Amino acid sequence: MKLRTTFDGITLENPLMPASGPLTGDTEKLAFMRDEAGVGAVVTKTICPREPEIPKPCIYTGKHYVQNSELWSEHPMERWVESFLPEYVEKKDRPLIISVGYTKEDMEILIPKLDAFADAFEVSTHYVGTDLSVIADTVRTIRSHTDKPFYMKISPHIQNPEGYAKAIKEAGANGVVAINSLGPTININAKKRRIEYGAEDGFVWTTGPLIKPMALAIVYKIKQAEPSLTVIGVGGITSADDVIEFLLAGASGVQMLSGALLKGKALYAKIIRDLPKALEKYGFESIEDVIGTTLSKDVSYEDETPTLIEEKCIECMLCVKTCPYFAIDFKDRITFNPDKCFSCGLCVSICPTDAIHMDKLG
Ligand SMILES: Cc1cc2nc3c(=O)[nH]c(=O)nc-3n(C[C@H](O)[C@H](O)[C@H](O)COP(=O)(O)O)c2cc1C
Repeated sequence: MKLRTTFDGITLENPLMPASGPLTGDTEKLAFMRDEAGVGAVVTKTICPREPEIPKPCIYTGKHYVQNSELWSEHPMERWVESFLPEYVEKKDRPLIISVGYTKEDMEILIPKLDAFADAFEVSTHYVGTDLSVIADTVRTIRSHTDKPFYMKISPHIQNPEGYAKAIKEAGANGVVAINSLGPTININAKKRRIEYGAEDGFVWTTGPLIKPMALAIVYKIKQAEPSLTVIGVGGITSADDVIEFLLAGASGVQMLSGALLKGKALYAKIIRDLPKALEKYGFESIEDVIGTTLSKDVSYEDETPTLIEEKCIECMLCVKTCPYFAIDFKDRITFNPDKCFSCGLCVSICPTDAIHMDKLG
């Protein structure tokens, strides 16, 4: 009950879903998500009527990010329709969201074939450009083929998320999944003087913790602009705290992929286990309580010099070394020079022991 979330008539026992990708690419992986990961709803890898040509290797992990050049499901649509989906739904016990891509013509083929298996659709338009009239046309085509809820997945190269939200709402979509991978980006191996990942153009897509602030902003912008749309948040989640941030930004459910590629597939179950503790830590009764919370925003232009909480300071000197205004010194103890301090707040967030305080920062 505490972790439940409901949107568009779909109930999830917890708000975490896998993001579309390799971890939901066939029956075995879908079953892992259901039986071991324990996610609230399962989302498939993107199915497309055309065959992808995937350059290998296709997944790279950096410290705070993942890069990929995977495109969509390597399995033909027929295999999904004749084998993976019928096998999976035999033991289905939670909502199934089928990810489809990409064009209006693809939707004409896909939606009628997949409709019987889906509780909802998620629609990627990652490779069709940024023209909102084209995307709205795709939405109308999908709506003409299904009564099920469907969510358009926004790519971060769409410059105007509010305009995107308005266009897809007016055309008949239920909501937005925000966000798809960031790019184009590049991966350079300096030692080998080579671009090893990606297709001929050398570009790859970037995901993981690095994109979380951007994903949060797009979720927030869309929910502010079109409150009646359902928003599903995705991008950089690796913890229960991250889930709560996305729900506060305006999401009704969340998805994760890169977190599991960086830290292991057991992370899904761990986050779900951690959620009740995180709710308690922040004083929420339930996931629905988080979703119903309105964020406040304090903008201040006043200066405030930080203060030191001496008993917490371990004299690591990180604040002294990093202060961009040369306002922190160490003379027996950490001291702040109010004449130089710009009240930027960096020292507060960088301190590893929370030993620096500013009234403005909670
Ligand atoms: C290896 C890999 C493959 C992906 N494949 C798909 C895909 O087939 N369809 C899709 O809509 N998004 C795909 N994505 C994007 C994810 O669904 C998600 O939007 C993105 O990775 C951000 O979430 P994350 O930071 O939790 O990974 C893929 C991402 C990765 C890393």
